[in-house]
Amino acid sequence: MPPVGINLKAHDTPQLSCPLCSASHVPLQGSLTNGVYACTCESCGHFFKFKAVQNVRTSAAFSVNGKKYTVGNEYPPSTTLNTFLRRNGFLKGTKGMCYEGGCGVCLVTVTLYAPILMQQMHYTVNSCLLELFACDGMEITTIEGLGDPRHGLHPIQEQMVKHDGEQCGYCTSSMVMNMYGLLKTNPKPTVSDVEDQFDATVCRCTGYRPILDAMKSFCVDAPPHLKRAVVDIEDLDAKLCKKTGNACTGHCHGDAATNSDSCENQMSRPVHIVGSTAQWLKPTSLEELLSLLKTHGQDNYRLVFGNTGFGVYPKYSAANYDILIDTRHVMTMYGIDFDPVIVLGGNLSLHNLWELFDKTKTDPSIPYARAFSEHIKYIASSGIRNMACWAGNLMLKHLEPSFPSDIFLLLESVGTKLIILDGNGNRSEVTMTDFLKLDMKGKVIVAMALPTYDTKDIYIRTYKRGLRLQQCVAYVNAAFNFQLDPKLNYKVKSKPTILLGGISASKIHFTATENYLTGKALGDPQVLKGALKILEEEIKPEPGFFNPYYRKSLALSLFYKYVLDVCKVRASAAYVSGGTGLTRTPIVGTQDYGTKPEEYPLTQPMPKTIAPYLTSGVSQYVDDVVGPPGLLFAVPVLSTIGSGNLDTIDASQALEMPGVVAFLKASDIPSGGVNNWRPIGLFNGGVEELLSSGPINYAGQPIGIIVADNKETANAAAAKVKVTYKNVKKPIVTIEDAIKQKSFHPNPPQPWAIGDAKKAIAGAPHQITGQIKCGEQYHFHMETQSCLCAPTDDGGMEVLASTQWLDGVLEVVAQVLGLQQSQVTVENKRLGGGFGGKITQNFLVSGLCALASGCLGLPVKMHLDIHTNMKMCALRMAYLLGYQIGFDDNGKLLGINADVYSDIGFSTIESTGAIFSWLDNAYFCPNWLVTTHPLKTNKALATACRAPGSTPAIFFMESMIEHVARYLNKDEVAVRQANLYVNGQKTITLRTLQYCNLKDVVQKHMTDVNYKQRQADIAQFNKNNRWKKRGLALMPNMFGISWSGGTYTTQLMVYHGDGSVAIAHGGIDMGQGINTKVMQVCAFELKIPMDKIRVKKSSTVNNANSTTSGGSITSELACQGVIEACAILQKRMAPVKAAMHDPSWEELVKKCFESEIDMTVSYMTAPKNLNFQYMTFSAASIEAEIDVLTGQYQFRQMDMLYDCGESMNPELDMGQAEGGFIMGMGYHLTEEVVYDTNTGEIINAGTWNYKPPMPKDLPMKFNFKFQRNRPNPLGVLRSKAVAEPALTMASGALLAVKHAIEAARADAGHKEYFALDAPATPEKVQLLCMSSTDDFTYGK
Ligand SMILES: Cc1cc2nc3c(=O)[nH]c(=O)nc-3n(C[C@H](O)[C@H](O)[C@H](O)COP(=O)(O)OP(=O)(O)OC[C@H]3O[C@@H](n4cnc5c(N)ncnc54)[C@H](O)[C@@H]3O)c2cc1C
Ligand code: FES
Ligand code: FES
Repeated sequence: MPPVGINLKAHDTPQLSCPLCSASHVPLQGSLTNGVYACTCESCGHFFKFKAVQNVRTSAAFSVNGKKYTVGNEYPPSTTLNTFLRRNGFLKGTKGMCYEGGCGVCLVTVTLYAPILMQQMHYTVNSCLLELFACDGMEITTIEGLGDPRHGLHPIQEQMVKHDGEQCGYCTSSMVMNMYGLLKTNPKPTVSDVEDQFDATVCRCTGYRPILDAMKSFCVDAPPHLKRAVVDIEDLDAKLCKKTGNACTGHCHGDAATNSDSCENQMSRPVHIVGSTAQWLKPTSLEELLSLLKTHGQDNYRLVFGNTGFGVYPKYSAANYDILIDTRHVMTMYGIDFDPVIVLGGNLSLHNLWELFDKTKTDPSIPYARAFSEHIKYIASSGIRNMACWAGNLMLKHLEPSFPSDIFLLLESVGTKLIILDGNGNRSEVTMTDFLKLDMKGKVIVAMALPTYDTKDIYIRTYKRGLRLQQCVAYVNAAFNFQLDPKLNYKVKSKPTILLGGISASKIHFTATENYLTGKALGDPQVLKGALKILEEEIKPEPGFFNPYYRKSLALSLFYKYVLDVCKVRASAAYVSGGTGLTRTPIVGTQDYGTKPEEYPLTQPMPKTIAPYLTSGVSQYVDDVVGPPGLLFAVPVLSTIGSGNLDTIDASQALEMPGVVAFLKASDIPSGGVNNWRPIGLFNGGVEELLSSGPINYAGQPIGIIVADNKETANAAAAKVKVTYKNVKKPIVTIEDAIKQKSFHPNPPQPWAIGDAKKAIAGAPHQITGQIKCGEQYHFHMETQSCLCAPTDDGGMEVLASTQWLDGVLEVVAQVLGLQQSQVTVENKRLGGGFGGKITQNFLVSGLCALASGCLGLPVKMHLDIHTNMKMCALRMAYLLGYQIGFDDNGKLLGINADVYSDIGFSTIESTGAIFSWLDNAYFCPNWLVTTHPLKTNKALATACRAPGSTPAIFFMESMIEHVARYLNKDEVAVRQANLYVNGQKTITLRTLQYCNLKDVVQKHMTDVNYKQRQADIAQFNKNNRWKKRGLALMPNMFGISWSGGTYTTQLMVYHGDGSVAIAHGGIDMGQGINTKVMQVCAFELKIPMDKIRVKKSSTVNNANSTTSGGSITSELACQGVIEACAILQKRMAPVKAAMHDPSWEELVKKCFESEIDMTVSYMTAPKNLNFQYMTFSAASIEAEIDVLTGQYQFRQMDMLYDCGESMNPELDMGQAEGGFIMGMGYHLTEEVVYDTNTGEIINAGTWNYKPPMPKDLPMKFNFKFQRNRPNPLGVLRSKAVAEPALTMASGALLAVKHAIEAARADAGHKEYFALDAPATPEKVQLLCMSSTDDFTYGK
């Protein structure tokens, strides 16, 4: 029968009429050849053919917050949803930072097909990976769709505000959207569900606790103090306005859209978008997909499902293909069949797999379901698991054999078969290992077939161990599948499966060991020994990012762990716990502080006044600002060598790209301008070139700027600039190499000497020498460095910069462009985190942006991605300490001779790295000699990072104290107590202590946390467990707060019309809540309500000559400025007031205005240049547990007794303390910057292998207490600073781990002292435990 012709108009739903029975239906089935479809009538069963005259849409349609959008070839097919949302400031609440799935600031919810429920459901996804055209048919909700202060907050946003879950606010929208997605799929979550879900977004500020508390308030098992009164599921739906796409106001009656206005119909319609660079094809049936594979199988094509593979391997970017085929709408590939065999479709997401295995985990015929569900929960993050399919994961393994795919390992462990079709419909069913060898050109994985088991003797376990628990690729992963007979001493009944990932690209099965074990009794110690020996020979790790020696050791340990688990009855009591991992319980914690209600709003705990705006994505950061018309985008081109000279630069290819406007190099700096981004006034004339004029000092140094009409083009063009180098030398990038090569900077600082340390050490009863090291830290501000420059109409420049130091940016922009400083205006309202990284480093970014803008005479924006940010800008300084200590029998310190090697980079402009000021921490030592050796290396000049100098110094001191205690074989707390400072003693900076209560603080803390009993319990635990160890560490802390240089110009303005007050304080709010504190203080001083007061942005106009915000002191000094300004104002108003009878504030203001009183006050804080203004005296203790076999650790409990003076706002200060501590945990434990020693490049720039803490890194019990009744006579309104001291106390986390390692080493027969350098990664921990396979037995 000839095909029935049917005219399918674009955007229409095709309606077919059966030629036999005339029933009409939508053609969901059929096979496509040359536009001819075959179809079986759903009504009468008649088979007929039809030809689609025009059956394909040329655009993709979706809704965002209820509003429909249609997009087509005006966008390149590689455009992501994130780019679409953020372009032109459209929906800027959704942020972007890493663009590789690792930071999670880009989360939105989208409707995805939920195959188990067979309907569309809302899921959270990473918008930076989701392709725009892949959104066809989806409903997308962004933060703007939930709520805002104008129309009312969504319940999740309200809870965030209530719990103070936002500091800088850059992660906040994503946190809210993640919870929204969870509640949409699971309206009754438990607190564990929340902790599992919150693995997608990094928060660098809060320490997560308040965010988790906010989210747990929605949980069915929330603790009473968190639980919300009633959770009405209706409340959780986004109420959206169809017109605006924003939260519904209810004003335009009848227009409020609900999600029922679905784009679902689009699902059944194929799409073909022909772009200028590539084609996007969306088949809607398997037949169409196969036809496309047949047509394009040999072209440069790629299938697209979640597009998350691009996050792992950027080379698979959609931009690199001619044809992109979206498989998401092929419904047959969502199949789920459990009868008679398990067949699962290739379009099932990782989340779907998890759901299926979780639901079947007690089914005896699927003995692997429990292990698989637990394992999948830790693959990638919730956002990625929701959008990525398992078939895509396998294809990554196929394309990149070294990829340690978890999915491959799991499926291979049970002998899964893959069902693969080619374009002709030829079906093959292949094993997983055969799949790796198969040519996949023109083929698609349509399903997998999993086995069921009818015996109960199958023992399947899988393992994944990485640098961090959540969202972290494995160092090594493993899966074991044995059929065992427990009655026959665990006889291995058939050939077992031993799989190890992360070892070698070519070897996953460890067949020699599998063969050896077949038929043998695994419970026999000799068999175990034999197996380990063969496995040890078989494991030959290939070089890789992670240490091969550790990977081998870990792989052996995982095998042993498996054996201990399945044969636990064979193991002695002390060995049994080696068979399990570290088990976590949900995080609980307390926050304890006092307030003075009589002084409210001063000392009143309250969230930030801006919190409702931060939680709803309304607040803007630099990159959110739309900018003037004609805005261009600049991207720096970086050097890829660490030492040498530029030879040639060829930007011709880049300049040919459509949209590229210019390439600028050093010679383009205008006459009168200077090629130096270090403000001459601030750096004593020191020079660091803005763009290299030839010499290359570090890999990552800027050598040019690409300017284009959009960010994506600028990025792509920057990669096309060809640079060659000459005089290339091997760079020095390690402290050890610098020392070995005697690469020191001249003129080091004078040694710091107190008494005669050498003599005191020589004469002391005991002497020790040692060495300890700590590495760099990347600030990981979630808002990366950004700047927007716009030339003014009078030859000047307006600058919006993400800087902690406006005045410095002002200087550098003027200097680079040859302008007067008064021609430049710099301003900023808030930062998405700073942590010291935006004190000087934004000068470079602003200098580059200003150069581009100045040269082109057009507005230009620069917003670095994380890779560029990490490579180009400086980091926290790395140090090595060599020491000699003299002490008495009680461990009392008599003399310390310290050699500090500071890795400051290629020049001394910014620092020499002297850290003596905090080196004493809390301990008195009468004799000191501290010699600083600044090392010259090929790195960006090290810069401030939250608690710079103090963090390594305090870590070093605590490590030295531990060394003394171990030498004397004494309790380390006793040694600490013997040395604690008391009043009247002089510190290392020669300050005589006045208000020191360290001894009391330590004693009280020990009583509060039941320290002695817990120490005894831990000793017992360690005795009872060979492969799990615990450690407890106590950290006293004395921290000097310096106000030096804290100069801020405060403006206070009173408006006569209504008496409202505006303040511009000159500091930068980067999450610490400075604006809220300033308002509290102003309200307290003027005795007016807080809502009469507003804080304005800081700028070089209102706040000229203000110095940097940092060092935890800006809040208090800005408050000091306000106190003084209020006093000046009150003095001016006093005569008017005296002539009135008890006037209201408004009456007084009105009268003052009429009396021509100047109600604009300016005051500049200029604190005395003391070495420290005051000290904080605190204590913390932390308990760790380690898995000796793998080196993993977790923290069971952390308690801090912090000295905050009289906190102006304990809720904000608590957030700072908790957040500071967690950032410190990252520094001491997992955050390691790794350099390529040949090129000098940072090889883990980005989120893939650089891992700041995530929620499950928090101690399970997390208790913070502010000391009561501790007014600070030397502070502002009796308060003390908070974040930096708390960060330094995270040394305790490392020491607790160290104590646990000591216990493990003692069992292995190693009692000698060892140093534990920071960061103490699981790799270091495992290796330091000194276990060998000889110890891998069933125990005695
Ligand atoms: C931040 C992050 C963390 C991650 N962590 C982990 C981890 O811990 N462990 C782990 O195992 N993985 C991890 N991954 C990898 C992730 O699981 C994969 O990226 C994902 O499963 C790929 O699925 P996708 O749907 O996004 O595939 P896409 O990116 O859309 O496609 C990837 C490749 O698969 C091909 N493809 C897709 N579907 C099919 C099909 N049906 N048939 C044939 N070819 C197909 C495509 O052509 C493409 O070549 C991580 C990824 C990210 C971004
Ligand atoms: S920007 Fe999407 S995860 Fe980082
Ligand atoms: S509040 Fe989370 S990153 Fe700043």
